[in-house]
Formats: sequence, C-alpha cells, structure tokens
Amino acid sequence: MKDLVKRLTSISSPSGFEDEIREAIKSEVKDYCDEIRVDALGNLIAVRRGTGPKIQFAAHMDEIGMIATDIDEKGFVRFSNVGGVSPHRLFGQRVRFTNGVVGTIGMEKLDDIKELNLDKLFIDIGATSRESAQELISIGDCATYLHGFDDLGQRIVAKAMDDRIGCAVLIEAMRRTEQCQSEVYCTFTVQEEVGLRGAATSAFGIDPDLGIAIDVTGTGDTPESRRMAVSLGKGTAIKVKDQSVIAHPKVKQLLVDLAERNGVPYQLEVLTAGGTDSGAIHLTRDGVRSGVISIPSRYIHCPSEMVDMIDVEASVKLVSLVMSADISEALQ
Ligand code: CO
Ligand code: ZN
Repeated sequence: MKDLVKRLTSISSPSGFEDEIREAIKSEVKDYCDEIRVDALGNLIAVRRGTGPKIQFAAHMDEIGMIATDIDEKGFVRFSNVGGVSPHRLFGQRVRFTNGVVGTIGMEKLDDIKELNLDKLFIDIGATSRESAQELISIGDCATYLHGFDDLGQRIVAKAMDDRIGCAVLIEAMRRTEQCQSEVYCTFTVQEEVGLRGAATSAFGIDPDLGIAIDVTGTGDTPESRRMAVSLGKGTAIKVKDQSVIAHPKVKQLLVDLAERNGVPYQLEVLTAGGTDSGAIHLTRDGVRSGVISIPSRYIHCPSEMVDMIDVEASVKLVSLVMSADISEALQ
C-alpha cells in the first residue's frame, strides 16, 4: 500500500493535465474491473458489473499547481495558481513542470510579510534570458511541488496526498472486494481542485443511485489548530458536512452502520472550509444521495501532507464494505 502511494504521489499531474496519473491508475486497476473508459474531460471510469443499484465512487486524480503566465526579460517565470495554492507556502519550494523542467520559487523584497501575494513570487528555472527560458517552457505550462515520499512508520508524508491517497484507497478496495452487490463505478476524476468539474460530468454520464467521494479532510490535532473533532490515527472520517455538501442522512447512516458492525474505526467529520467531489455529484440531474469517506490529513495543500496508515486501512475497509453491501435501505 505504501509503495502504491509512493508511486501515485511522485507523479506531476495538476488539474487539466492528468494524462500521466490517468495512465498510472489505469495500469493499477485494469485487472480488477469489467470495463474501463475515459470520458471527454478525461475522467477514468472503471466499472464492476452487477445487478443492483449504481454506486459511483469518486477520488480525484488532479493536484494543485502553478501555471506560467509570463516570462520576463531575464528569464524569470511569473505564475498564477491552479487551485488552492497560497503564497506563504511557496517561497523556497522546488517545483517541477509537467514536461520535467525544475525550478525554485523566489520572492521580490518585501517591507512587510503582509504584502506577500503571488505577484511577488516567481519561478527561477535557471534560465539566463527570456529566450533561453522560452526554450524550456511556454506560457500555460503547469508545475507542481517537487517533494518526495517519506515513510515515517505509522505515518507517511508526500506532496499530492490530496487526493492520491484517495485514489490509492479506491484502487486497494477494488482489489480486495471480490463480490459487488451493486454496479460499482470507480471514478478517478479530473479538475477537482479547480471546482469539482470532472465529478460533475462523470456523475451526469453515470447517473448513479448513490455517490461517495473519497478525499482528504483536515484535522484539529496540531498545536493551536482550527477546532475540529478529527485526529490522525483515530480512523476513517465519515463526513456530515463541508462547504460543498451535507451528506445525505441515510448515506451517512449506511457508512456508520457498516463501520460499527465490522469494527472499523471511524470519526464523524464536519469540515468548515473546503469541499469534495460529492458537492458536484449530489446536485446531478434530479439529485443523487451522496456521502464522503475522508482520510484525515495534516497540512493539506502544503508540499508535505501527512496521513496515518491506521486511517488509510480503515478507509480501504469501509470503501470495500460499501462495494459489497446491500445498499437498498439507504435508497428508500
Ligand atoms: Co485539495
Ligand atoms: Zn482533494
């Protein structure tokens, strides 16, 4: 499992540039599904045929990044954000463009740190002029954090844990689940970080009876953190509410009952800032009953996001239980 997470987090695939991660996930899941397809936006949809109602699971493949907007005469690259990248996390970070070009983020002089915004930052790709920079990258090229995977024992840390850990949980659950009662659509979505876009089109196409997003959530267990009753290592998190969705009470109950009956450690989650693919799925067509299985994560959207293997394992178990369960009660 850790090797899978290492493989997935090492890939640079910001929103809109998911080709590389999609190919990697395709090769991981192709032997564990009956059908596999890619829709027009690039969502990867792996189907396990069944006779029951349709469940859509959604884990997003994309990650936050930076997009080149301008190259100055000295060859410094100015950039904008792709998704939730904040300037105070960036100075001194190393980044990699999807074509492999590496740079480091520099900063103009500031009299007051409060003046810091993305306009004060630039990517230095080692070019000596605009012309030499243009040989390496073009306007519109995207970069992501360049940070490795580290195994801390019970806990692991990497960039893009949001949401490659959700992808890894879904892949592992597919591998472990032998019989599905429902027709299961495992969706690896695109462009979540810029507005749940892949979830919107894939849910419209699949037209599911039940939707479950698998994504990271925050924690309240670090010094002076935002108040939140979720901690690393206390189990998978079953979402009640975030800014994009209020979990359907029957879906939340289905997840709680499955966890209780099978001894899966879980925590109830209210996330006050942030959303997930369920935000788009539940508003599809005439509405889809939806919920979220979350993996608690520290330092979300930083170059080093940390999760606990106890929570990862509990999340795999819960996803697998939903795949093999009779979900008819949640749909009544
Ligand atoms: Co995110
Ligand atoms: Zn996410």
